[in-house]
Amino acid sequence: MNINNINTPLVGKIRVPGDKSISHRSVMLGAISEGETIIENFLMGEDCLDTIKCFRNLGVNISIDKEVVTVQGVGLKGFKNPNKTLYAGNSGTTIRLMTGILAGQNFKTIISGDESLSKRPMDRITNPLSIMGADINCKDDLYPPIEIKPVSRLKGIKYLQPKASAQVKSAILFAGLYTDEDIHIIQPEISRDHTERMMKYFGANINITGKEVLMKGKRNSLKGKKIFVPGDISSAAFYIVAASIIKDSHIVIKDVGINPTRTGIIDIMNMMGGNINILNKRVMNEEEVGDIEVKYSQLKGITIDGEIIPRIIDEIPIIALASSYAKGETVIRGAEELKVKESNRIDAVSVELNKLGASIKATDDGMIIKGERTLIGNEVDSRGDHRIAMMLAVAGLKAKGTTNIKRFDSVNVSNPNFIQLFNSLKDI
Ligand code: S3P
Repeated sequence: MNINNINTPLVGKIRVPGDKSISHRSVMLGAISEGETIIENFLMGEDCLDTIKCFRNLGVNISIDKEVVTVQGVGLKGFKNPNKTLYAGNSGTTIRLMTGILAGQNFKTIISGDESLSKRPMDRITNPLSIMGADINCKDDLYPPIEIKPVSRLKGIKYLQPKASAQVKSAILFAGLYTDEDIHIIQPEISRDHTERMMKYFGANINITGKEVLMKGKRNSLKGKKIFVPGDISSAAFYIVAASIIKDSHIVIKDVGINPTRTGIIDIMNMMGGNINILNKRVMNEEEVGDIEVKYSQLKGITIDGEIIPRIIDEIPIIALASSYAKGETVIRGAEELKVKESNRIDAVSVELNKLGASIKATDDGMIIKGERTLIGNEVDSRGDHRIAMMLAVAGLKAKGTTNIKRFDSVNVSNPNFIQLFNSLKDI
């Protein structure tokens, strides 16, 4: 894909596709509930479509009409044995959360993924799920495929999470629906809480107190619901940074999820001197939604570490690009998790952006980014990682000349219309 320098400001209103994390969870909870779940503004990206395929293979009736997905729930144990390997594609959320659900079934399942997912660690979920009594095996005790065998019963758990991870927390909570014993998770830092909120919305008994999540008492059966999936703030992040670094830009991104566990990108950009405001705040199915207004502004470098890291974990690549245009240096620490995402994002960001003229030093747990760089178009590689592809495309809009991005089609994972959306900007 060739991206040319854009010499006009970005001005207008735009809408980003539905939230990836919420889309996955809505299908999962819909499938294990009683009755029908209707999901509006579902993300039609490859990851979420892979989740739908897995549940269809488990015998769940799911229909898709434009961006409305209807799931006929089968209850906690109403699945059919798929008698074949389930395929999670590129999606860590699919494989990790589904393993929690599959641990409670009375048939054996194997779930696998693509080349990238097959290199991502699964011991983070198999460890706590084994403590709960699940019988799970992975390749080399670490990687997919994951084999999940039936057990007579699952137990409760009190789990001190070694690292903040919503995928791990969610896998435990899903498995926890298959026992009446207490599930108590203590997080080192708060990660996204969509599972807790959505389980509550579907009728589960879950309490969140600070960093602790508690599911107590007898499990009620979950009841199908209507869900509106807000726009994905992780997709919005690319347009937020584009408008912040392209002179005279002024955009409003409509109907975006602004759950506080996800809004680190707004906090970081404003700490860097950005001009971002949230308008029209409201709550829909237990999730906050708002319109994000962004105006161009000169940014300055900052130090980023500590508890904000889980709130920006998917946005660090695009923050690194913003930092390359900021005055002064930006230091990112405590983000070693980036090495086990869809690609090694510390390596991908530093190597690929440096090819365009950025000055980013990779460190063991983050990066050090020199600001006020002038980027110049070159050939770069997304490494098959959707967030690296989109970050490089925004870099290409600001860089001089033309930027050629290899393996750009990875954007289909979370935002198939990434480029077209720039052309859809309408009057403010
Ligand atoms: C996600 C959690 C995060 C995030 C991923 C989606 C989720 O992963 O990076 O893109 O939907 O729960 P970790 O749980 O590994 O931090």
